[in-house]
Amino acid sequence: MKVLVADKFEDSGLAGLRSLGVEIAYEPDLKDTTLAARLAEEPFDVLIVRSTKVSAEMIENSRLGLIVRAGAGYNTIDVGAASARGVLVANCPGKNSQAVAELAFGLLLACDRKIADNVAQLREGKWNKAGFSKARGLYGRTLGLIGMGNISQEMIQRARGFGMNVVAYSRWMSPEIAAALGIGRAANLIELAQQSDFVSVHVSLTKETRGMLDKKFFDAMRNGAVFINTSRGEVVDQAAMLEALDTKELFAGLDVFEGEPEGGKGSYEGPLANNPRIYATHHIGASTEQAQEAVADETVRIVREYLLTGM
Ligand code: MLT
Repeated sequence: MKVLVADKFEDSGLAGLRSLGVEIAYEPDLKDTTLAARLAEEPFDVLIVRSTKVSAEMIENSRLGLIVRAGAGYNTIDVGAASARGVLVANCPGKNSQAVAELAFGLLLACDRKIADNVAQLREGKWNKAGFSKARGLYGRTLGLIGMGNISQEMIQRARGFGMNVVAYSRWMSPEIAAALGIGRAANLIELAQQSDFVSVHVSLTKETRGMLDKKFFDAMRNGAVFINTSRGEVVDQAAMLEALDTKELFAGLDVFEGEPEGGKGSYEGPLANNPRIYATHHIGASTEQAQEAVADETVRIVREYLLTGM
């Protein structure tokens, strides 16, 4: 069996794959554009990707039987095209949730205390204590969570540690589940926006969630609130968010963007990177040692199962 690893992958994962006796091509520099030719040129059975996108054309011109997304979301893979050709698509849900929740909280704290601006001004030799005297503080504030999967549940635990109240909106969350989790339940996104001092988004990108955080949502947010997105850029109406940064004096912490560079490599010049009301990071939510090792272990487990059972 031939396995193509088309993104950076942990050494432990490569060792795990080798122990299965499969033939591995480790080519982390492949990009969306070069992956197509590579798949057409050599008959790989399994493809492992993290940021590199997998299109219908790539799938159709390959001999793949399994595609593994070494992460939770699989919006970067054309699952419809894969299913149509009987190609299995697997992901690694829950393996990087703590890491993403840690970054979401990091951004939340950084936005409230304007940590990056503090550091930048001091590096320029300015002492501006008075300029940074209006943080909201987390204690007693309300965190609004959108989505109630693994990451939101990690967020609830961290919010408790900071003495925050939590309210959440998820189409799947019943009043009984909210009560069991010890959190409030918003009936819709508008109610969530109205009740929250900090909002953090944790949903997958689907046709229902694309553009779901629109002008009505941002208009309903509290003045001066903080908006955090570590899920997918496409769930946000970017123009509506940019407008609200000014009109509602929001501050945003964003780890994800529409039109991220192909294969997670290259340059980014979108309007969100240099806005003074945004702290932007490079889609690094899952980038911790623990998370990447857990994702690599899960990927190896999936490939082993495929090898043994064809799944
Ligand atoms: C995910 O879907 O879990 C993240 O996008 C993974 C990653 O960035 O590696």
